Amino acid sequence: MNGHANGAPNGADRGRKNFFEDFGVWKDAPILTGTTKFEPLPDVKNIMITGGAGFIACWLVRHLTLTYPHAYNIVSFDKLDYCSSLNNTRMLNDKRNFTFHQGDITNPAEVAACIERHNIDTIFHFAAQSHVDLSFGNSYGFTHTNVYGTHVLLETAKKFHIKRFIHISTDEVYGEVKDDDDDLLETSILAPTNPYAASKAAAEMLVHSYQKSFKLPVIIVRSNNVYGPHQYPEKIIPKFSCLLNRKQPVVLHGDGSPTRRYLYAGDAADAFDTILHKGQLGQVYNVGSYDEVSNLTLCSKLLAEFGIPHETPEEFRKWVKYTHDRPFNDHRYAVDGTKLRQLGWDQKTSFADGLKMTVEWYRRFGEQWWGDISHVLSPFPIVQGVEVHSDKEPISDHPQPIEGQSSLKKRKLETNGTNGVNGHATTYTAIPV
Ligand SMILES: NC(=O)c1ccc[n+]([C@@H]2O[C@H](COP(=O)([O-])OP(=O)(O)OC[C@H]3O[C@@H](n4cnc5c(N)ncnc54)[C@H](O)[C@@H]3O)[C@@H](O)[C@H]2O)c1
Repeated sequence: MNGHANGAPNGADRGRKNFFEDFGVWKDAPILTGTTKFEPLPDVKNIMITGGAGFIACWLVRHLTLTYPHAYNIVSFDKLDYCSSLNNTRMLNDKRNFTFHQGDITNPAEVAACIERHNIDTIFHFAAQSHVDLSFGNSYGFTHTNVYGTHVLLETAKKFHIKRFIHISTDEVYGEVKDDDDDLLETSILAPTNPYAASKAAAEMLVHSYQKSFKLPVIIVRSNNVYGPHQYPEKIIPKFSCLLNRKQPVVLHGDGSPTRRYLYAGDAADAFDTILHKGQLGQVYNVGSYDEVSNLTLCSKLLAEFGIPHETPEEFRKWVKYTHDRPFNDHRYAVDGTKLRQLGWDQKTSFADGLKMTVEWYRRFGEQWWGDISHVLSPFPIVQGVEVHSDKEPISDHPQPIEGQSSLKKRKLETNGTNGVNGHATTYTAIPV
């Protein structure tokens, strides 16, 4: 049974965008999963995956549904926020062991109804406000979803005696790592530097407390940046792929020097599969990639994928523009993934291969998967409820100083009236002064 997947949305008005309209784009797309397979766990039967219509979770939803058709029933629980798409899981609608359940993690009744109805024993908690840029403009919305929403899930998991609660966190909770610092172990101190990362760190504190106070069986996972097909084009790789596909230049924040480590989504799905089957309750696992790439280098690699000449400074300037940086932009993150590798997981997809597959997917499907994405492709789009609007940020041919020097960079961050709490629409915006 597929919940509301083929019907009208329930509950309050979710905005104008109709997530249930099906234009069939998913029918031509490859069905992408991870590659690992383990002996099914005898005490796991019904798995709820929050945020299942979003990017990373949809990979795990497809992977578990298709890899363990007789062992596990998978319930994708998602409120269908602006960045989600039912196209991410429509290919599963005819599978006996898959259900989509529309609901909001900040609503205790909706969470309890799902757990009770599907007799859930295991929870993978991915649902979150995940875009750092937006968290500078409306941090209340991030606290509400990422902290309060996690609290609701924990409390409900306790009430229904959930057997495994796997909480998805991020490498950003550790904060910035200097170029010559060692990679961080799971025992490192949490020192988040932006409101998104702080909300994820705060959520972890609640998870930890439920483990200690109530013996809730939890595992925490802190992953590097994940990329690949199905990622909403607000994040750098899909956004720049869609822009270049439109023959439009990309716009870097600041000077393009920050680096990120990138893990292909198929490898991330394998990491979560490994943690479900081999991970120890009460533990924290970093998920680390070997590929660290600066935003500038990423531009060159993408231009090469699109066959666009970019070797001379003039050619490069034609395709790579700049705008002000985030109010604060961590230079790099670096986690040590040895503990997870000791469970048998390893990164299989090189950045070169993963980027090729990703670009190819966005060329074919990027323009249709989420409906009209024109407004998402501006440097700092504005999100109101489930609608996205372009910003009007000034763009330059030259790198912008990082952290607060230039007039382009000097900004006032403002929350536009509503704050996403108690079901009000959320506006995420950053206003130049
Ligand atoms: N993307 C990355 O590189 C990355 C890296 C490390 C960790 N993470 C973490 O992984 C998780 C998933 O990230 P993603 O990039 O796939 O996110 P995403 O933004 O693509 O998806 C988030 C999903 O959560 C849903 N959601 C949001 N609020 C909800 C609510 N109140 N109730 C129910 N559903 C809700 C959205 O509709 C969406 O489908 C997040 O917890 C994020 O912090 C992401």
